[in-house]
Amino acid sequence: MSTPISGFSKLSKSQKISWLAENYFNDAQAGIRVLQQYWNSDQKLQQLHDEFIENTISNYYLPLGVAPNFAINDKMYAIPMAIEESSVVAAASNAAKFWLDKGGFKAKVIQSVKNGQVHLNFYGDSARLEAFFNEVKPTLLADCESITTNMRKRGGGILDLELRNKTQELAGYYQLHATFETLDAMGANFINSCLEQFASSLLREAAKSTLITEEDRLEVVMSILSNYVPECIVRAEVSCPVNELAQAGMSGQEFATKFARAVQIAQTEVRRAVTHNKGIMNGIDAVVLATGNDFRAVEAGVHAYASKDGHYRSLTHAAVSDGVFRFWIEIPLAIGTVGGLTKLHPLVKLCFEMLGNPGAKELMQIMAVAGLAQNFAALRSLTTTGIQKGHMKMHLMNILNQLEATPQEKEAAIEHFKANTVSHAAAVSFLESLRP
Ligand code: MEV
Repeated sequence: MSTPISGFSKLSKSQKISWLAENYFNDAQAGIRVLQQYWNSDQKLQQLHDEFIENTISNYYLPLGVAPNFAINDKMYAIPMAIEESSVVAAASNAAKFWLDKGGFKAKVIQSVKNGQVHLNFYGDSARLEAFFNEVKPTLLADCESITTNMRKRGGGILDLELRNKTQELAGYYQLHATFETLDAMGANFINSCLEQFASSLLREAAKSTLITEEDRLEVVMSILSNYVPECIVRAEVSCPVNELAQAGMSGQEFATKFARAVQIAQTEVRRAVTHNKGIMNGIDAVVLATGNDFRAVEAGVHAYASKDGHYRSLTHAAVSDGVFRFWIEIPLAIGTVGGLTKLHPLVKLCFEMLGNPGAKELMQIMAVAGLAQNFAALRSLTTTGIQKGHMKMHLMNILNQLEATPQEKEAAIEHFKANTVSHAAAVSFLESLRP
């Protein structure tokens, strides 16, 4: 066991790596070689990445793929996707192609309000706290003016600030609930700066007010934005006459009915809903990552939204009526197209260029479409051929690489497995049959 180290963050990159290699790698030199293999030869670019976080030792690659042929609100997109799962980009591309001649995807942002809270303790009379809040609210807002100047110039800013009494849920618990319009920014820094200003102004004013006493024990517990954003919602949908859905030996009506049933099951059964929504997030996360957005924030918000009525459910919906199939998604997405990595990471910048440099609302629509498309592709496979056929075909290359197949062996294996079921064992025995 290695001994704890102090001042690690102050060491140079190579000192950090040496310490790590000595203490944690089986073969120090081999480990160091792997880390170095992933360094960028352009030192300036490498330094940029080094400085994104603390204690950087190397770069962690994910493939960046592209799913072309997405028609969204009658505009064509090639969607960048950063993801390690082999079948995701292929599935998105298939779904894009499928809907291309059926009117494509329609999407719109329903609301774009973000929120955050100053969480408070207060053990006195709630009527006094309310009177105090009403008195100081204009001051609290005015104190944020310098923080909000630029955002207000662009049409955004603080929308409202209210005091919420939460004592029914937790004794002594109140919050200042603030809402924001942050336009093209995800707005985390903006929101948190406003909240911290509210908190300090509130305490300053309380110290001067006769409405608040020592015995009330008014205290700010914390000030932080919420990643639960049910007022920041985007909707995407597809629809077509049922008869256009005929495929794989199924009539359009059969396919549409079975597909809608699969969605109903995910609306009802949590074990299915989680996997169903995971498939949706395969598409969304890949675009969130490619555009340098915060996928943990998006994931947290989306899954909380999936259980907004107290039961975790599918994020997508389907209906078949009057000979028309409709499939749609409504999700919360708090993302940005300015700030953060968006202009800093050269690949992220290029992904934005690929998308035509959208604003946040357009990007929300693109992400929602990526999720809907991914879910369509998954349910289409699941309700027809089953998922493994496509998955294992895509996974074949990973297995072949693991088995160190040569280019010729790979070519032969791809041909062979067009007609045979892929498995790790089958790939091993096929390669053995080729090798002398
Ligand atoms: C796999 O990454 C995603 C799926 O499981 C999604 C689903 O079951 O709907 C195929």
